[in-house]
Amino acid sequence: MNKVKEIRKERGMSQEILAQHSEISRKYLSLIERQKASPSISIAIKICGALGVSIDKIFLDLSATEKPSYPNPIRFIDLFCGIGGFRYASQYAFDKLGLKGECVFSSDIDKYARASYEANFGEKPAGDITKIEASEIPDFDILFGGFPCQAFSICGLQKGFADNTRGTLFFDIARIIKEKQPQAFVLENVKNLASHDHGKTLKTILEVLRDELGYHVDYHLLNALDFGLPQKRERIIIVGSKKPFAMDWKFHIDNKKTLEDILEKDVEKKHYASPEIVAKRKSMHEASVYPSIWHENKTGNISSYPYSCALRAGASYNYLLVNGERRLTPREMLRLQGFPDNFKIVVSDTQTRKQAGNAIPVDMVARVIEKFLPLAF
Ligand SMILES: C[S@@+](CC[C@H](N)C(=O)[O-])C[C@H]1O[C@@H](n2cnc3c(N)ncnc32)[C@H](O)[C@@H]1O
Repeated sequence: MNKVKEIRKERGMSQEILAQHSEISRKYLSLIERQKASPSISIAIKICGALGVSIDKIFLDLSATEKPSYPNPIRFIDLFCGIGGFRYASQYAFDKLGLKGECVFSSDIDKYARASYEANFGEKPAGDITKIEASEIPDFDILFGGFPCQAFSICGLQKGFADNTRGTLFFDIARIIKEKQPQAFVLENVKNLASHDHGKTLKTILEVLRDELGYHVDYHLLNALDFGLPQKRERIIIVGSKKPFAMDWKFHIDNKKTLEDILEKDVEKKHYASPEIVAKRKSMHEASVYPSIWHENKTGNISSYPYSCALRAGASYNYLLVNGERRLTPREMLRLQGFPDNFKIVVSDTQTRKQAGNAIPVDMVARVIEKFLPLAF
């Protein structure tokens, strides 16, 4: 039970104004006021801020904890699976919690990603998700998906999510959730999702998940660097469950890998930049730490750090250079994303670079899933 309506009325505030100040839709606020939805902790904080009261005055049962009830096994689907970052991350989380997970469906449109996935997990993912009916997908308990970020044609839910998001890959996630009604989901996207189309893209996604599909949803911007990987990679993680939950996004990480742990000792000549490029880099920059990764930005400026800047699928060839001299090897790139060394590389260097650049930081997402599962089930 919450007292949002009571206190809003006491303040003489309209639903429109409170919704606006809390950065949610009026429809969602109305659901909260009618006790039909429990907001995430971050939204509860915004509502309380707008009403000028402390959280315990309004949301009395947010801290109530119920023992999780897990299906056995927990069936999951791996959408936009790439080379299986979510697959590793969820496996680590299941193992940590003593649970059994089972992947019942995976999909990726890229044939090289599918080849890598098959070589490593023994299952060939399905192809283009836009061509797959939700009814063809086996029942599952949790959906994982790192989907490409695309603008929506219309913002707001006047016409429903089908009209607002059709033609985007989020539409496919939404239609699958709508038909299959899983208990929970974990989605991943780039940092820019929050500012994309002036914030409308993220707003529409959250409205669809909350208002139309009826899930409790929270999201947060996380950085792989804070999860023990020497890569500055900021990603938005969206979690949702049918059960109300309060996610604590603070993590305590002990095992931090350094660049030295990641870098290979004997590196083939082919990975070295030409003497001209190395000389040019070194004339422009001097590193203060060793080893370091030299990063060239869009304007040609060079900076170096004891960690890597975000790996990118379509990055230019010398975007990142180890000690200003050589490119990262495919294995190093996979390590920077937290992929284990027994991950089999079965495609070309170019394809592996692209795949690693597209992947999720496994260590980061593993910790999120480990914390989220007991709240979601
Ligand atoms: C950001 S990557 C996700 C990578 C993955 N999380 C991993 O750890 O490797 C997005 C993936 O979506 C795939 N993709 C794009 N359009 C697709 C579609 N229509 N159907 C299925 N997969 C698609 C891309 O090939 C790419 O591998």
